[in-house]
Amino acid sequence: MTQDELKAAVGQAAVAYVQAGSVIGVGTGSTVNCFIDALAAARVPLAGAVSSSEASTARLRQHGIEVLEPERVERLGVYVDGADEIDGRGCMIKGGGAALTREKIVADLADQFVCIADQSKRVEVLGAFPLPVEVIGMAAAQVARRFAAIGGQATLRAGVRTDNGHPILDVRGLRIADPLALETEINQWPGVVTVGIFARHRAQVCLLGTPQGVQTIRY
Ligand code: A5P
Repeated sequence: MTQDELKAAVGQAAVAYVQAGSVIGVGTGSTVNCFIDALAAARVPLAGAVSSSEASTARLRQHGIEVLEPERVERLGVYVDGADEIDGRGCMIKGGGAALTREKIVADLADQFVCIADQSKRVEVLGAFPLPVEVIGMAAAQVARRFAAIGGQATLRAGVRTDNGHPILDVRGLRIADPLALETEINQWPGVVTVGIFARHRAQVCLLGTPQGVQTIRY
């Protein structure tokens, strides 16, 4: 099976986690695009969706799914999103698509994070994928120096601004054995808007696409 077929399979599988009549949280990325398309094809009646990016908002609306502002929603039953890496505890690196801040905000509203990923995303230790960090522009060099002090090489993602208007640093060379501790530490650094470690907002379920079928992993 191709990677695209695996993404389509997990996108389809995630539809089973959507309750008719509910408001759901929707992530960002190519795997989530498969989920949005599968959701629309299944014609699950929804009260609406809270979206994590302009791109997902546009795709949801194309399918006639109402997009609600987060301030209108107190809690979400489920948030469905992809990942760049996911470890054996459901901790993730996210932000390859630059949507990490809104993704964390919407994930924070949800009772359950369902991660949809093809098997290439499953790792033992996070960090081979460059860690995305959204920063306030004037702090970028300062934050990069802090990463250098812990062994990371941070580079600005060329030509990219997030939906919030900020630059992204991609940090190579980190071996993230304790995602919760590192997320907590980086969250304290002035100028960091969001670090792409999702340990505080880790997945409760991963639908992992493999050639043998979709594996359901619960954490
Ligand atoms: C978006 O900012 C990311 O967090 C995505 O969830 C992640 O990059 C996965 O994207 P794909 O589904 O396109 O691999």
